[in-house]
Amino acid sequence: MKALEGIKVLDFTHVQSGPTCTQLLGWFGADVIKVERPGVGDATRKQLVDVPGADSLYFTMLNHNKRSIELNSKNETGKEILTRLIEVCDVLVENFAPGALDRMGFDWETIQKINPRIIVASVKGFGPGKYEDCKVYENVAQCAGGSASTTGFLDGPPLVTGAQIGDSGTGLHLCLGIVTALYQREKTGRGQKVLAPMQDSVINLCRVKLRDQQRLEKGPLTEYSQYGEGIPFGDATPRAGNDSGGGQPGRILKCKGWETDPNAYTYFITQAAIWEKICDVIGEPEWKTKPGYATPPERLDKLNEIFGRIEQWTMTKTKFEVMDICNPLDIPVGPILSTREIIEDEGLRATGTIVEVDHPERGRYASVGCPIKMSDSPVEVTRSPLLGEHTREILSGVLGYSGAELDRVIASGAVGKAS
Ligand code: COA
Repeated sequence: MKALEGIKVLDFTHVQSGPTCTQLLGWFGADVIKVERPGVGDATRKQLVDVPGADSLYFTMLNHNKRSIELNSKNETGKEILTRLIEVCDVLVENFAPGALDRMGFDWETIQKINPRIIVASVKGFGPGKYEDCKVYENVAQCAGGSASTTGFLDGPPLVTGAQIGDSGTGLHLCLGIVTALYQREKTGRGQKVLAPMQDSVINLCRVKLRDQQRLEKGPLTEYSQYGEGIPFGDATPRAGNDSGGGQPGRILKCKGWETDPNAYTYFITQAAIWEKICDVIGEPEWKTKPGYATPPERLDKLNEIFGRIEQWTMTKTKFEVMDICNPLDIPVGPILSTREIIEDEGLRATGTIVEVDHPERGRYASVGCPIKMSDSPVEVTRSPLLGEHTREILSGVLGYSGAELDRVIASGAVGKAS
């Protein structure tokens, strides 16, 4: 028994944002039916291809636990099939460019008439307003959502982050909206529209930066490095390098081997409660009581000196030795892990956050499993479907087409070869 067993999802998503959402629904037990254009499919199938002829990792890593039906939703028979899918599904998820679903002839009112219980969940780049018609990709959302202007160093340009907060981050928001709407439907019997704009999702994740914007109006942000460096603040939250976003100062510091290994670094947080332990570890016990060093407010204008001294110590240790020494003392540190280290991490493999999957075209590959662990709804990651792999199975098993009727829809060209 899985949490969402019995829930049918009509998955009209493509690229990254929508597929991350429906993949989660699949992991939670929903039957996810991915609708793809005949002969073409999700564009990511053939993007960033590493194994010629095989679906790309871009596609496979975002589309586990789904079934694929080829369906031309602009063809008359295709529309008939889509209508029947809407009738039997609980959720329709889409992340087309604005208006695409309406242009297919399936606007909210039409869908509601077909199935008043269905939840229609959409990712769009922007919410209602002057940019609502824009097509949007990850980095546009990071820029328009406040992430880029607050990421990077003070003397450099805005930076995008490798964490796909615009796409995967919005997929998470949408998924939460869907399960909440399913819960509400239990009481009302009605479906509803769920919208997760990418800009809004990034803004939600940049909440602390908007906190700082308003604090800035009351005076300088004393926990930012630039305060200690005597650099005046402007009128917006600045880029803060690797400063911690919270009240406990933190930095990324070099570790042993940094000269040749780009990831031989650790994050180090000088949490107030364990200041004395930090002083002992780095060999500066007198800082425990020394005026100017003993309390957090006194230290704010000396963070460069303090972190410089801590770094002298971290540079004598590997990032894992720093972790081994600091963890038992409750000093919060974190090694900068490379993607290779993460993929090979035995602990992450044991918990199912990193999984290996067999694929008929590409063989065995590593992927990211479900990051949410539920005690009563375990996740088994199954490979992504080939294009149209389940067309016939869905037409007959889900929609009940058989015999001459099945032959008719296949002959219409609306569902690819359905082989
Ligand atoms: N059968 C027939 N037509 C189909 C189809 C199917 N199964 N699936 C898609 N199409 C059509 C759509 O109806 C649309 O046609 P139209 O423009 O004539 O109405 C067309 O294919 C292309 O869809 P679109 O969404 O515009 O794709 P795109 O490649 O031009 O744009 C995005 C891609 C991501 C920029 C755009 O979809 C978008 O802005 N989405 C919302 C934001 C988002 O999710 N962005 C992040 C993506 S990770």
